[in-house]
Amino acid sequence: MAGLEGVEQPRPQGGAAAVRPTAALEDEQGLGAVEEYGNPAEAEVTLPSMPVSAGTARRLAQYVVIRFWGFSPQVAEHTVLLVSELVGNAVRHTGARSFGLRMVRRRGWIRVEVRDPSRGLPCLMPVQELDTTGRGLFLVDKLSDRWGADLLPRGKITWFEMRVADR
Ligand SMILES: Nc1ncnc2c1ncn2[C@@H]1O[C@H](COP(=O)(O)OP(=O)(O)O)[C@@H](O)[C@H]1O
Ligand SMILES: [Mg+2]
Repeated sequence: MAGLEGVEQPRPQGGAAAVRPTAALEDEQGLGAVEEYGNPAEAEVTLPSMPVSAGTARRLAQYVVIRFWGFSPQVAEHTVLLVSELVGNAVRHTGARSFGLRMVRRRGWIRVEVRDPSRGLPCLMPVQELDTTGRGLFLVDKLSDRWGADLLPRGKITWFEMRVADR
């Protein structure tokens, strides 16, 4: 990027961990989101189709994976990243007013579903070195063990699954 070439951005002491909210703050925000919207591990949660909902979905996913299911921060990190991509797509590519988020845990697996009212299908695109878009599903494909989209009479569910060590 012009103007930034060769300029190292200052990092707070402690590296990436120092710029992330503390675990206590993440818990508080996650619990707040669960209280406001519901727990996506118990029933589908409906969120308004606005960019701010990506943050809400991330907080819900983080809370469920770590506090509700008891998995590691590493599992949460991947889940949250991929939730963010699917929610971003539901918001950007469908023109919907709202979307649904549901999280399911099965023996050895975590599954996340994002339901939207469009029957247009997600399309994994070949990614080139310099592409700045079209990387979301590429990431989902790389970091999940399975993913796909199931058409519904109205709309579809885009989902991914990750293998996890049972706890
Ligand atoms: N929920 C969705 N509904 C309809 N089309 C989608 C959806 N998600 C993704 N797509 C399509 O798949 C393409 C690739 O998605 P993605 O890899 O996330 O890249 P980007 O969002 O940057 O375009 C999108 O450009 C869009 O055409
Ligand atoms: Mg995308």
